[in-house]
Amino acid sequence: MKHVMHSPLERSLPPLSLLLFLWIITTTFRTAKAFNVTTLTFGESYSPLFSNFNIQRSPDDKTVSLLLNRFSGSGIISSDYYNYGFFSASIKMPSKYTAGIVVAFYTSNVDTFERNHDELDIEFLGNVPGKAWRFQTNIYGNGSVSRGREERYRMWFDPSKDSHRYSILWNPRNIIFYVDEIPIREVVRNAAMRGDYPSKPMSVYATIWDASSWATSGGKKKVNYRYQPFIAEFKDLVLEGCIVDPVDQILSSNCTDSAAALMVKDYSTVTPESRKSMRLFRQRYMYYSYCYDTRRYPVPPPECVILPSEREMFRSSGGLKSKIRFGGSQRDGREEHQASG
Ligand SMILES: *[C@@H]1O[C@H](CO)[C@@H](O)[C@H](O)[C@H]1NC(C)=O
Ligand SMILES: *[C@@H]1O[C@H](CO)[C@@H](O)[C@H](O)[C@H]1NC(C)=O
Ligand SMILES: *[C@@H]1O[C@H](CO)[C@@H](O)[C@H](O)[C@H]1NC(C)=O
Repeated sequence: MKHVMHSPLERSLPPLSLLLFLWIITTTFRTAKAFNVTTLTFGESYSPLFSNFNIQRSPDDKTVSLLLNRFSGSGIISSDYYNYGFFSASIKMPSKYTAGIVVAFYTSNVDTFERNHDELDIEFLGNVPGKAWRFQTNIYGNGSVSRGREERYRMWFDPSKDSHRYSILWNPRNIIFYVDEIPIREVVRNAAMRGDYPSKPMSVYATIWDASSWATSGGKKKVNYRYQPFIAEFKDLVLEGCIVDPVDQILSSNCTDSAAALMVKDYSTVTPESRKSMRLFRQRYMYYSYCYDTRRYPVPPPECVILPSEREMFRSSGGLKSKIRFGGSQRDGREEHQASG
């Protein structure tokens, strides 16, 4: 288990630590170089997945808007499968009242491997005005749906005001979730994870849908269609990785060289500087982690890096000890995920 040094100062004074955090985030924005990536048009990268009538493409085809209205949500899927890669989009969330709405950016291969699929998720869980937006990340490998690896966080900005880049890096060595250039979660592959580490080719998806039954405040806040249509805008589309042909036996493709190239890209490594931002983000904004949910996992799954500074924040249910509650009730991630499935 890795030991990471931690200054107790970071958590002791909430208002000060918030300022400190904002200062560090701001500094990070100024100094962290934007990733060296090539953006694609919609036509070059994605295809409609469902409800084509709710998918709007800009004239230059660089921006795609996914609508949710009374009739349906909508979704898109990458035109190719990738065996490891970096997948990214700048997303602007629907504004105003968005309770019950889930906007998801994720990778999956459930359509090819129904019983032993892999999946990497970023899911935005809707919002009621005046509260911080919340989102979660999750990982499944080889059909490990009974072993959810959810983490939940509040956002430190309003994601409906401007576009922000959200990214998933997946290579044979590690998985990193990013908000802009800030890594918010890293999973380093561990032999004991076995098939739970995603390793089969996946497609990339973006969807918006009605999850009234569970998404916001544990399902207490439903979608209100008085505010329709709800629009999630996607641009700066990036899909980098080894493309494999789904028709031509995807598992026989050789992505060895491509994976090696991926692992030396700027976005594949958490630098010491960005690790500091990641730690601060997690101390300040993470409100659930499966790694600290000892009721669910008496022995934390093998990839968990237990930081004493993080552990003391959480109850055995994996939720925050603190009386402060953010964005509604704090049910644990597992209940909500099962309710959604
Ligand atoms: C960015 O990536 C491209 C191709 O992937 C490479 O040719 C170029 O040198 C990179 N630029 C920098 C500044 O690293
Ligand atoms: C993945 O799942 C399949 C089917 O359940 C199983 O046969 C295989 O051994 C698993 N692979 C790994 C690496 O765990
Ligand atoms: C895949 O390609 C690498 C390098 O190009 C090579 O060393 C390796 O033997 C290949 N593997 C298979 C299974 O073809």
